[in-house]
Amino acid sequence: MKPRTITDSVRWMGAEDWDRRLFDGLIPLPDGTSYNSYLVRGSEKTALLDTVDPSQAEVLMSQLEDVPRLDYIIAHHAEQDHSGSIPRVLAKYPQAKVVATPKCVGMLQDLLLIPPDKFVPVADGETLSLGDKTLEFIHTPWVHWPETMCTFLAQDKLLFSCDFFGSHIAGTDLYADDEGRVYEAAKRYFAEIMMPFAGVIRQNLAKVKARSPRTIAPSHGPVHRRPEFILEAYEDWLSDSPRNVAVIPFISMHGSTEIMVDRLVTGLDSRGVSVHRFNMADSDVGKLAMTLVDAATIVLATPTVHAGGHPKVLYAALLANALRPKVKWVSVIGSFGWHSKAVEQIAGMIPNLKAEVLPPVMAKGYPRPEHFQELERLAAAIAERHRTLRR
Ligand code: FEO
Repeated sequence: MKPRTITDSVRWMGAEDWDRRLFDGLIPLPDGTSYNSYLVRGSEKTALLDTVDPSQAEVLMSQLEDVPRLDYIIAHHAEQDHSGSIPRVLAKYPQAKVVATPKCVGMLQDLLLIPPDKFVPVADGETLSLGDKTLEFIHTPWVHWPETMCTFLAQDKLLFSCDFFGSHIAGTDLYADDEGRVYEAAKRYFAEIMMPFAGVIRQNLAKVKARSPRTIAPSHGPVHRRPEFILEAYEDWLSDSPRNVAVIPFISMHGSTEIMVDRLVTGLDSRGVSVHRFNMADSDVGKLAMTLVDAATIVLATPTVHAGGHPKVLYAALLANALRPKVKWVSVIGSFGWHSKAVEQIAGMIPNLKAEVLPPVMAKGYPRPEHFQELERLAAAIAERHRTLRR
């Protein structure tokens, strides 16, 4: 991929990783991803903002062939998909300095073994002149590691946001003009890595919005030239108020749990609750994470395996606990043959969910009329609590 022009002084560089299907060995990437790096040329100095994943270093190095001098490498984030090629770039430009938050400086020394004399630590709000262009560094901790920052190019009102506002999409489009597609990918990205830090990200969102950026250039996915699109989406996802949505991750081994799930789905639907039913046998866990951005209720539905919950449903519980969604109500339904500790086990796995626990429904063997009545009561309790929620 050749460099692409954003303004007279700013060029997109980087790599499209079309075939990557998993990030951190955990996060599904149905559309691959990109590692965006940006070259900013001032009248006196030149800076490269972020690098690329080390697996794509050759792509970046070939794009830098016609760049004779580099003064600064701005490292917004120590995670290796952006920082991992800094040693390669430093080898080509040994006079360049790495500019980062003090915390990021320490992390880059640990992760990439870069010598301490290569760094220029910068404070929140500090500026760096490139001549006719000025970079302002905005510390944005926990977006999504403790050391993260953004850079604002004041003359062009261009915000370089690294993971913030990013999306895992590999593609040839420089800009996020296909907003429907980018919305889905950005929400998936938010759910998987940003949602656990929603409180602090809300503060950082206000901080970057105060600069009124005209363009937002993240380090994954396309560039936003209509920034209100992604800023409004983040406002919504970061909101404290969940929507009228219930999520049911489930597994069924011999059919009993599935029958209970379907009765609960019908009971909720007939009472006006929007339901997302996830069969954990083959569901995309990224979609489950996205649904948790909006959901008010999660009901984990499981048969009993060796006296506990099914491992695939336990995984859904672990994921929900790790992502810390804003769900307000939680319950467990399912079945067992002779004995079950599934409810107690799942309850112990979700301490991060600040949710009211609604009465569980567990059937011994095939569900009978009394279980269906309990499921109706559970559906009614959820619907009553969702009555005032936005759709
Ligand atoms: Fe794209 Fe947190 O790295």
